Amino acid sequence: MQNRYQWLTRAFRQPTHTLCYTGSVCAAVLAAAALFGCASVSSAPDQISRQPFGQTKEGTPIDLFTLRNANGAEARICNYGGLVISLKVPDRSGKLGDVVLGYDNLADYIKETPYFGALIGRYGNRIAKGQFTLDGRQYTLATNNYPNSLHGGVQGFDKVVWLPTVVPSAEGPALKLQHLSHDGEEGYPANLSVTVIYTLTGDNALKVEYTAATDRNTVVNLTQHSYFNLAGKGAILDHVVMIGADKFTPVDSTLIPTGELRPVDGTPFDFRKPTAIGARINQDDEQLKFGKGYDHNWVINKPMGQLGLMARVYEPTSGRVLEVLSTEPGLQFYSGNFLDGTLKGKGGWVYQFRNGFCMEPQHYPDSPNRPEFPSVVLKPGDTYHNTILFKFSVQK
Ligand code: GLA
Repeated sequence: MQNRYQWLTRAFRQPTHTLCYTGSVCAAVLAAAALFGCASVSSAPDQISRQPFGQTKEGTPIDLFTLRNANGAEARICNYGGLVISLKVPDRSGKLGDVVLGYDNLADYIKETPYFGALIGRYGNRIAKGQFTLDGRQYTLATNNYPNSLHGGVQGFDKVVWLPTVVPSAEGPALKLQHLSHDGEEGYPANLSVTVIYTLTGDNALKVEYTAATDRNTVVNLTQHSYFNLAGKGAILDHVVMIGADKFTPVDSTLIPTGELRPVDGTPFDFRKPTAIGARINQDDEQLKFGKGYDHNWVINKPMGQLGLMARVYEPTSGRVLEVLSTEPGLQFYSGNFLDGTLKGKGGWVYQFRNGFCMEPQHYPDSPNRPEFPSVVLKPGDTYHNTILFKFSVQK
């Protein structure tokens, strides 16, 4: 493991520069690219460019990668936190618009962020009272969302510098990010090596593929925390949501599941038929009060490990549609209830209450303390896999 880390560190010391990657061009074009540099492939169907994006507090330079597909859809991702900085997809008239919340520059992300666009780990969502027991030993984590631990702790995967590599993919421009999380980091056991591949596919999906391996038993629950607003402005209450789940996991007042798998039937949590987010969000319901809106895990109606549709979101004014597909068993749908007008984001947009929503495919919250939930234990020799697709289209 130490050798692998040294390799990761060495490889990261590559100079910052601009490059182009062509995903599906012939050898002649590649040869031309080699001869003439980026400019010669600017008309290639898929490409990635790389540019400096500031530095961390410790002075580590961070790069911003721009992935563009043949349709002109564009994702900008940086290797600090694996943050999706912007995601431009067409509306029903073909006009590109940015559908994710965030900031214009790295310094703002480092200063304060509610996980805008971030990779989340080692454990997405909450672990009750920051404690769990594994193989008879108790582990204590930071209670950074008092009284619980949230999203991997104080220095979760959203705040680490990932090793970036542009990789070939037949599906579209692809960026690989790697991180070795040390034994004891944020209180978690084992050295965990994590790889995430972001691909902007030809059919306008941002695909996020996670793999991870460990050197002893540990717990893992990785997800992606982009805040979407398919209109690119305003509240998200008119977005129409479908979630393919007959049950959800109700929570206590600190957003820890009670253990019950409760049928959604007859509750404001029933999104089996497409329903506007705002239609029932202010109902007099204890669960909605605990979450200040939707901030819950739905138990998705599909076999775990099988890539399938979890949710579909339609925004009527733009016609944009987001489909969320994943291999995970649960989906945290969060309606941006902690946004409160204190953060000024991209282009001066002050993010107000419920201006963005997250769809976080993951295992259920607090699973390490819930043996009845699908297991989050990863053992040496096994590989953790998790694939998420945020797929965009339009409805006329
Ligand atoms: C997750 C949680 C929310 C909130 C956000 C970040 O989605 O479930 O409760 O903590 O992250 O603000």
